[in-house]
Amino acid sequence: MLAATTSASMSQSFERIIHDYSSRVNAQLEAILPAATGPAERLFAAMRYSALNGGKRLRPALCFAAADAVGGSDGNTAKVAAAIEMVHAYSLIHDDLPAMDDDDLRRGMPTCHIQFDEATAILAGDGLQSLAFQQLTELDNLPTETVLSLIAILSRLGGCQGMVAGQAIDLAATGKLVGLEQLKTMHAHKTGALIEASVLMGAIATRAATDGQLAALKTFARSIGLAFQIQDDILDVESSTELLGKQQGSDAANQKSTYTSILGLEQARREADKLYQTSMAALDLFAERADPLRAIADFIVKRNY
Ligand code: IPE
Ligand code: IPE
Ligand code: MG
Ligand code: MG
Ligand code: MG
Repeated sequence: MLAATTSASMSQSFERIIHDYSSRVNAQLEAILPAATGPAERLFAAMRYSALNGGKRLRPALCFAAADAVGGSDGNTAKVAAAIEMVHAYSLIHDDLPAMDDDDLRRGMPTCHIQFDEATAILAGDGLQSLAFQQLTELDNLPTETVLSLIAILSRLGGCQGMVAGQAIDLAATGKLVGLEQLKTMHAHKTGALIEASVLMGAIATRAATDGQLAALKTFARSIGLAFQIQDDILDVESSTELLGKQQGSDAANQKSTYTSILGLEQARREADKLYQTSMAALDLFAERADPLRAIADFIVKRNY
């Protein structure tokens, strides 16, 4: 009974914080994305379509929650969160292309290349990625060295030492039986890296985080980031297209290497739970200031979409 009450109040607080954080990042995205007019109207319309068409906004939420755990989120947090969400939106557009996962449905709507066309989708991804970095050059009242460290983190973890490398490993592992270590490396890169960037950048942009806090946040982010992709693999097997807003069973249809295809559902669940416990333990030093991070972590491993 106590557990049920705790989990009900956790989910209420999750709803509240995700609503607040989402509206702040959505306003910032609305402010930075170009209006769909002029000679590049089709490109801008595709960028807006893919960045503003819903999504759980979990990376922005982690960014705000990490800032709130150390110093307090502010207007710069919204800009950093918007930058990360634009990189995420670009990664989804390219992930769905026929040359990659060849998916038609995303966030309950046609994928960008279906709604527009492949060339526009490639360009929309390109445009979102560079707009993300432009956004980081527009932060208010931060020393240059802080701005540079934010740019360094996003370029490293969002690029060929992070997410992009993970996507390359994913393609190389398609149709093959890979070992657990390679699977872990792939997931840590393709999904964990941008989640780590979300948490670290949110905290760093406040300028209030200590080295000890950043180390704890890194441990938190790496564990929950890997758990995030394991849960994504699990949902591809056991959720529904309607709930997910993307094609259920896409991984199996594409012969993807996933935690469920390599380890089976039960073992995948156990791995996600172990990582969740590690992530929670890393937050101990923050006391109640990390409650939003705890609520998001809880959602990440319990969600069904
Ligand atoms: C989907 O991410 C892609 C992965 C890295 C697993 P999300 O599940 O966060 O997608 P949205 O943003 O809510 O659509
Ligand atoms: C996507 O992994 C990771 C990135 C987009 C970087 P998936 O291919 O599993 O994501 P979904 O399931 O299509 O959202
Ligand atoms: Mg993929
Ligand atoms: Mg995919
Ligand atoms: Mg998936």
